[in-house]
Amino acid sequence: SKGGSGRSGRSAFVVVANRLPVDRVDTPDGSTQWRRSPGGLVTALDPVMKANKGAWIGWAGSTDEAPEPFDEAGMHLVPVPLSAKEVEEYYEGFSNATLWPLYHDVIAPPVYRREWWEAYVKVNRRFAEAAAETADDGALVWVHDYQLQLVPEMLRALRPDLRIGYFLHIPLPPVELFARLPWRQQILRGLLGADLVGFQRPGAASNFLRLTRRLLGYQTQRDQTFLPDGRVVRARSFPISIDVAQLEEIARRPETQRRAEEIREEIGSPAKVLLGIDRLDYTKGIGERIHAFAELLTDGDVTPDEATFIQVATPSRERVEQYKLLRDEVELAVGRVNGTHGRIGRPAVTYLHSNHDREELAALYRAADVMVVTPLRDGMNLVAKEYIACRYDNTGALLLSEFAGAADEFRQAFLVNPYDVDGLKTTLVDALRLDPRNATRRMRSMRRHLVEHDVDRWASSFLSALTGELRT
Ligand code: ADP
Ligand code: G6P
Repeated sequence: SKGGSGRSGRSAFVVVANRLPVDRVDTPDGSTQWRRSPGGLVTALDPVMKANKGAWIGWAGSTDEAPEPFDEAGMHLVPVPLSAKEVEEYYEGFSNATLWPLYHDVIAPPVYRREWWEAYVKVNRRFAEAAAETADDGALVWVHDYQLQLVPEMLRALRPDLRIGYFLHIPLPPVELFARLPWRQQILRGLLGADLVGFQRPGAASNFLRLTRRLLGYQTQRDQTFLPDGRVVRARSFPISIDVAQLEEIARRPETQRRAEEIREEIGSPAKVLLGIDRLDYTKGIGERIHAFAELLTDGDVTPDEATFIQVATPSRERVEQYKLLRDEVELAVGRVNGTHGRIGRPAVTYLHSNHDREELAALYRAADVMVVTPLRDGMNLVAKEYIACRYDNTGALLLSEFAGAADEFRQAFLVNPYDVDGLKTTLVDALRLDPRNATRRMRSMRRHLVEHDVDRWASSFLSALTGELRT
């Protein structure tokens, strides 16, 4: 620690997130190894982690006995155990069947169950206790996302000496929707344990300030909420980003270009390739885009030789009911369009329900003429940014939902309302028939913005808003 009087072995910088930034790899000899996950967050925080003996507290992703804290990839990792019942109630239940749909405009009906809330409280307390034991005197703790909204308040009660930041990666709904939550005051008080609460969009930060006035009766001014105990909590937007240089480097490799060409040949060398890459989630508007494309084929506005769709859907939260239903819906839609418009060896929509490495994703982005990003609601949407990062030659078109946080930053994209089928169809055709000069102009402007606003800038602007003192 800075003053030298630190608790020995503790960290001056602690990240608390539902998941650890490492993936478990079981080797053939039966031993367990850990590999750093490819995520942008861990890359962005790497320099801060290294300069401050950083620690990361999170769940290892299984219900097996949690390993003891260990050091890996320059970080101190503290696994938080979850029992099978806690995974069901805290993770699949309250986090992903209550909060996730409520915070995404109730696209799916949220389920409110008291025993899920109890599990959420209990698990949040476990994370807060682990953070309290790991943080050095006066350390800086950064708590992430909707799974851990009670941690800031719990942690402050245990360790008033800490500086606490919180960032919500998903949208925060307006009071009209948030007010339905039976535990709305507890959640707000949980978040207000932080000194700084960060959101993706300015609108979410204003929702938060309005919520603290309306549901807790607190005074606010500009970005500040005044608490009865005299503390002041700030709320601001910090749009997250990606490691642009790293992904662009992969996209520029000759083998990536070869793989991109191979992908186009394998799907029958259509004139144009449309691409969707998403977790299989009902917020992503996957069905909407497939229906719009199918109608274009049926109407004859687009022919199967002219354009082929590739949809990559990452398996996600597969034991949650709404995700099972969605999978059936999407797969039925894909089967229909291929049955009607496909030919032998030439599906209209190539659909993959699988995970892929960064290299394969970069090749897909390089292979796509039109990137189709149509969420019904999305905190940010990093896929849109990844596509732009890979288009270093200023080619390609981005079709982007106005309901994704990314729409605030990319006004040069083909912006759409995914609920408007006709609008979606016309915009798809516009993007498919975009002339190269216009494409270059749009992509160049989007890339200029992205290159200036990468994930390092996101992390450092949040952290410097939280404290000017942290060494990076
Ligand atoms: P969300 O966080 O809701 O899943 P984002 O678009 O913000 O949505 O981020 C998704 C991340 O997951 C991106 O970095 C993307 O590259 C990655 N990803 C999406 N699909 C796959 C896949 N099939 N295999 C591996 N990574 C994927
Ligand atoms: C979104 C959430 C993250 C979450 C990720 C993957 O990006 O904001 O908190 O980790 O989805 O979902 P999962 O449930 O597999 O962690």
